[in-house]
Amino acid sequence: MEMMKAIAMRKSARSYKPEQISDESLKNIINAGCAAPIGRGMYDTVYLTVIQNSEILKKISSTAANVFGTPSSDPLYGAPTFVLVSCIPNKQFPNIELANAACVIENMTLAATDAGLGSVYILGALCAFSADQTLIKELNLPEGFVPVSGIVLGYPTEPLTHEKELKQIIKTNVIK
Ligand SMILES: Cc1cc2nc3c(=O)[nH]c(=O)nc-3n(C[C@H](O)[C@H](O)[C@H](O)COP(=O)(O)O)c2cc1C
Repeated sequence: MEMMKAIAMRKSARSYKPEQISDESLKNIINAGCAAPIGRGMYDTVYLTVIQNSEILKKISSTAANVFGTPSSDPLYGAPTFVLVSCIPNKQFPNIELANAACVIENMTLAATDAGLGSVYILGALCAFSADQTLIKELNLPEGFVPVSGIVLGYPTEPLTHEKELKQIIKTNVIK
């Protein structure tokens, strides 16, 4: 798929088939994430955790749903894969970890679209890790890393077929 087509076809998919994505697709998506720009080139301050264990996924989702006050919802949308981006915060450059994670996730979401997979940027459900400290332990994060953002991946129940028109929906001021 051409890059502009992948950009036009990407959209958040919020309903997934239970079928797992292939290891090859996962590898391509992770490699795309790893090709993202990272502030000051500090790739060792970013850490990816691929969660495909259904018990852990359920625990994250139900903990977050309870925090949201909607216990019957599924903030991970039944997706079989959740890639969590964790970072080491940097006091000198506040919020650089959010920007880094966003770059990694955008590359992954475009690679997923290119492979015909669905994806959604996940920020809200990360409240599960502060609500239940035992969940963090299950991730085995290296010292100093904190969860920043994530992305769920899977086969969407509705395939991505719509190519949206690329237009300026964000107000833009060009100063020449
Ligand atoms: C920083 C950020 C955080 C987001 N967090 C969530 C989230 O926690 N759950 C969710 O369902 N969507 C989340 N989204 C997805 C947005 O709601 C979605 O991208 C936006 O509404 C545009 O829709 P589209 O992705 O279909 O184009 C997030 C997107 C971004 C960029």
